[in-house]
Amino acid sequence: MRHRALLVCRRVARRAPDAFANLAVYVTNSARGSFARCELTKPKILSTRPLFPAARVILDQHFEMDYWTPHERISRDELLKRVADKEGLICLLNEKVDEELLAAAPKLRIAQTVSVGFDNIDVAACTRRKVVATNTPGVLDDTTADFAWTLLMAIARRLLEGDTWMRSGTWPGWDLDQLVGGDVWGKTLGVLGFGRIGRGVARRASGFNMRVLYSDAVRAPEDVERELHAEFVDRDRLFRESDFISLHVPLLPDTRHLISHENLEKMKRTAYLVNTSRGPVVDEAALAEALENRKIAGAALDVYEHEPLVNPALLSRRDVILTPHIASASLETRTKMAVMAANNLVALFEGRRPPNALNADALGLK
Ligand SMILES: NC(=O)c1ccc[n+]([C@@H]2O[C@H](COP(=O)([O-])OP(=O)(O)OC[C@H]3O[C@@H](n4cnc5c(N)ncnc54)[C@H](O)[C@@H]3O)[C@@H](O)[C@H]2O)c1
Repeated sequence: MRHRALLVCRRVARRAPDAFANLAVYVTNSARGSFARCELTKPKILSTRPLFPAARVILDQHFEMDYWTPHERISRDELLKRVADKEGLICLLNEKVDEELLAAAPKLRIAQTVSVGFDNIDVAACTRRKVVATNTPGVLDDTTADFAWTLLMAIARRLLEGDTWMRSGTWPGWDLDQLVGGDVWGKTLGVLGFGRIGRGVARRASGFNMRVLYSDAVRAPEDVERELHAEFVDRDRLFRESDFISLHVPLLPDTRHLISHENLEKMKRTAYLVNTSRGPVVDEAALAEALENRKIAGAALDVYEHEPLVNPALLSRRDVILTPHIASASLETRTKMAVMAANNLVALFEGRRPPNALNADALGLK
């Protein structure tokens, strides 16, 4: 059936090539619920990175791809220029899909960010212009939760200070009070944002016999709380009682500067802050001040308020660990994210609802 459908539409296209030059024709086999696309022209897609081979295999088969390959990131001007004739865009979290970009790309049908966080995409603007916005949720949960724990352990046990000391060649040998840190086991973990990744972080706490508190805009189902031994508390209690606070909220107007001067004041002087969510969730100036005044014991950050810049007051501090936004950066996970992105595009252009469409309902996608 699919084969016959393709033959028919190819025959039609041969007879009226002009009319079909830029048309993507779908023929539906309703009995099998499948679609066939006439291979007249492939949709043009811009990817602001070469992605990974596993994703490129999929994309190259279905689309006419334009990959940005230079080592330097694509400039905004170049992005606006290249996207002008594209039907799809695959971008990264530091490329904004906003009114300006959408206006510059009148043919655009899908904007895909290779990240779970989608604060770089103006979803409402996409909906207004009938552009499907997609992200990559779920595949990075465990890798990111592992990394939040990496930071938590490293800051509590002063891992990087120890490493720096050893490399300096000045370590005089063991002593009783060298680099004494804070215990992790048996302490209280506060998870702010109890979604996919926050729950993953909480799950790992049971191996350390920790008490888990969480705060979220929405309370988790009872069975989840039971399974993860997690107690739902208001934000104030979380700030006051936690020994470690790990942030897992998306960046939204009401989570911007959630870690403010005022909330840092509520934390224990012995507490540590871990941020693998988004940089602007933390007021970096307030954090630097809190550390300077010993209001909290330390902070481990993977994300920054003004990436790629870091507040200079944090750079020289020994009670801060800084990593370059790599919480999801395992080869396996980044590959899965890229493949997921590719499959979202394939779904849309085959007439299916992209599995990770953020505005599917608003656009009435079935
Ligand atoms: N550092 C990294 O490389 C990295 C990797 C993955 C994800 N992230 C970030 O982590 C975030 C969380 O990812 P996820 O997959 O767990 O998302 P998720 O949607 O599963 O969970 C987010 C949770 O935050 C809650 N929330 C929303 N607004 C809130 C508010 N105002 N107060 C309290 N809770 C609120 C939601 O109810 C939800 O439970 C992403 O949005 C992304 O920004 C960063």
